[in-house]
Amino acid sequence: MVKRLQDILDKDSFVAVGLMSGTSMDGIDAALVEMPAGEDLSRLELVTFVTVPYPDELKSSLRDIAFGEQCTAEDIAVMHTSVATAFAGAFHSVCRQAGVETVDFIGSHGQTVAHVPPRGDGMTLIAGTLQMGPPGMIAALTGVTTIGDFRAADIALGGQGAPLAPYVDFLLRRSKTQDRIILNIGGIANLTYLPKNCSLGEVIAFDTGPGNMIVDELYRVLYPKEGSYEKLSELVAEGKPSQSLVDTFLGLTFFEHTPPKSAGHHEFGGRFAWEFLSKAEAEGLKREDILASAVSLTTRSIDAALRDFVRPAGDIDEVLVTGGGSRNPTMLSELRAWLDPVVVDTIEKLGVPPEAKEAVDFAVLARETLLAHRNVIHVATGASRAAILGTIALGS
Ligand SMILES: Nc1ncnc2c1ncn2[C@@H]1O[C@H](COP(=O)(O)OP(=O)(O)O)[C@@H](O)[C@H]1O
Ligand SMILES: [Mg+2]
Repeated sequence: MVKRLQDILDKDSFVAVGLMSGTSMDGIDAALVEMPAGEDLSRLELVTFVTVPYPDELKSSLRDIAFGEQCTAEDIAVMHTSVATAFAGAFHSVCRQAGVETVDFIGSHGQTVAHVPPRGDGMTLIAGTLQMGPPGMIAALTGVTTIGDFRAADIALGGQGAPLAPYVDFLLRRSKTQDRIILNIGGIANLTYLPKNCSLGEVIAFDTGPGNMIVDELYRVLYPKEGSYEKLSELVAEGKPSQSLVDTFLGLTFFEHTPPKSAGHHEFGGRFAWEFLSKAEAEGLKREDILASAVSLTTRSIDAALRDFVRPAGDIDEVLVTGGGSRNPTMLSELRAWLDPVVVDTIEKLGVPPEAKEAVDFAVLARETLLAHRNVIHVATGASRAAILGTIALGS
């Protein structure tokens, strides 16, 4: 049955699915949530959550495109279809697991394969972002109204198209008593600073640099027979980071650059990992020391970002870590050491599993699109104004 947009908007509460796959390209996170249609989002409930890993072949083709291997427009067209099919599969998995048959809408991030924040100026200004898995395809494959393509409008208005989660952090995760940071360590790391009782204008948010992207790539190259992230954590814990190697890379202009700023494969992907590896080998580092150094670059660049761009604006009481990096004990213990006496915990403290957090965010962003709310903090993205992000494809 065709569901008119008005039929959805007439409801008091929504059942929605958020679909997310980040720059790590480890798999699709799907979160099924129930949330009110009205102002008070504190009643939002995460019903079920699944992660569906990408099939090896699809992951490898995505990597080729994102890491700048040769590819044609034809490859990209085909990839759109493959990713949309995989996203629709993740949607069906989470619905099956929840035993839910009727979903009002889907919010889908898609799979980023290219992210070009604005560079240059005037006639030389270039910018763009490309997410695979168009909402129209997902709507057709699921029959459910799908909101996607969230980054495009912000890029069109001169923004970075990122980060987008901070708007949802502001809606759901600010505290009355704590000056709080939500720190997402995915492929890239990004943070949202929420001073206690903050207004939207007081939020600070930006990408701090690499999250797991470099260590993932080095692990793949140095340990081709391994694979599990648990093993990666063990190896990192056994290694000893080279602070001189980390110091070399902390001098990069990306880290010094004042926000707004965002990063992707272009900054910290395959090419960066190879450069890191060649300098590490020149120092004669062992394999596990190289992995530990990559993790240390992440934690130290986060510490530096807080020092340079957050602390001048206010105090920090706690940092709540989300994303896959929160599963790496060394990542957390280093952050605790650098940031002491700030409390470092995971987002589970707020009742959200780290793997589900961003998928929930995209369900909420989609709700905001449908309600015609400006669902972006444009000061954080650098856009000239806040647009209503998201393209709506009707399900039938
Ligand atoms: N148990 C673990 N130990 C160490 N690292 C982990 C673990 N689980 C996940 N990760 C890391 O987290 C990454 C995925 O994080 P995620 O938040 O999904 O990132 P993205 O948003 O880029 O997809 C993996 O690539 C891996 O590096
Ligand atoms: Mg992921």
